[in-house]
Amino acid sequence: MALIRRVESLIDGLLKQYALPIRRREMAWRCHGKNNDELVNNLSRHNVLKTERIANVMRKIDRGDFAMCTDTAYDDAPQAIGFAVTISAPHMHAYALEALRDHLPEGGRALDIGSGSGYLTACMAAMVGPRGRAIGVDHIPQLVEMSVKNVKKKNKKMLETGQLQLFVGDGRDGYPGEAPYDAIHVGAAAEELPTKLVDQLKPGGRLVCPVGKEYDDQVLLLVDKKADGSLVKTKLFGVRYVPLTDREKQYPGRIS
Ligand SMILES: C[S@@+](CC[C@H](N)C(=O)[O-])C[C@H]1O[C@@H](n2cnc3c(N)ncnc32)[C@H](O)[C@@H]1O
Repeated sequence: MALIRRVESLIDGLLKQYALPIRRREMAWRCHGKNNDELVNNLSRHNVLKTERIANVMRKIDRGDFAMCTDTAYDDAPQAIGFAVTISAPHMHAYALEALRDHLPEGGRALDIGSGSGYLTACMAAMVGPRGRAIGVDHIPQLVEMSVKNVKKKNKKMLETGQLQLFVGDGRDGYPGEAPYDAIHVGAAAEELPTKLVDQLKPGGRLVCPVGKEYDDQVLLLVDKKADGSLVKTKLFGVRYVPLTDREKQYPGRIS
């Protein structure tokens, strides 16, 4: 019975196919690669990746270290990582990093909410460099443990120096201990823009967050905080993400 439920939740995770930008489906889904370099080259060729800076970061952080299924690690699609969630599709990682790139300077501070496999947090850490900080928060302890193992495969030093830090917590509270942040990425859909995260953004900072209900129209929202604290919100495109939710709702009764 437990096995059946587990398989059902994995299938459910895959069916949700969140992290798919609806309007750009065709272009993005042509980007599969046989290895990490080929995947990154295809994302650049199809103009999903727009800058060498981000392409280099995605070359440096090998998606194969973060995906559970080695056969499909370089497909441009979300992959199940357990606990009813996935590592997001490479094109969504690329869009998010491009949207945040000017807010991830050397020495900058970054927050990744719903860090899951740890892939995007590691990319953000590579961008802000050894003088910067990238903080990842996920509410599933086993995923945080797994993300630490994933990062250790090739980027152990980032964890040792504190350049990259991964914590268990409710991402809706952010991580006030290292705030304010130049860039905040939210990897799960919030029904409404989480105010605590906006509060932890620096003046001049940028937040990217999918907003909308599960199975409903969701939009990837850019939020820029101006020097005077006012907010400018820009809708990018339609997406399907899993919800930013309670741990119990995401994975009922199975995490102590
Ligand atoms: C689509 S997955 C993205 C994972 C990550 N960006 C990646 O590519 O590996 C969304 C993640 O958000 C997490 N999540 C959902 N609600 C959360 C909450 N309230 N606090 C922290 N994490 C949450 C899930 O556990 C999951 O790991």
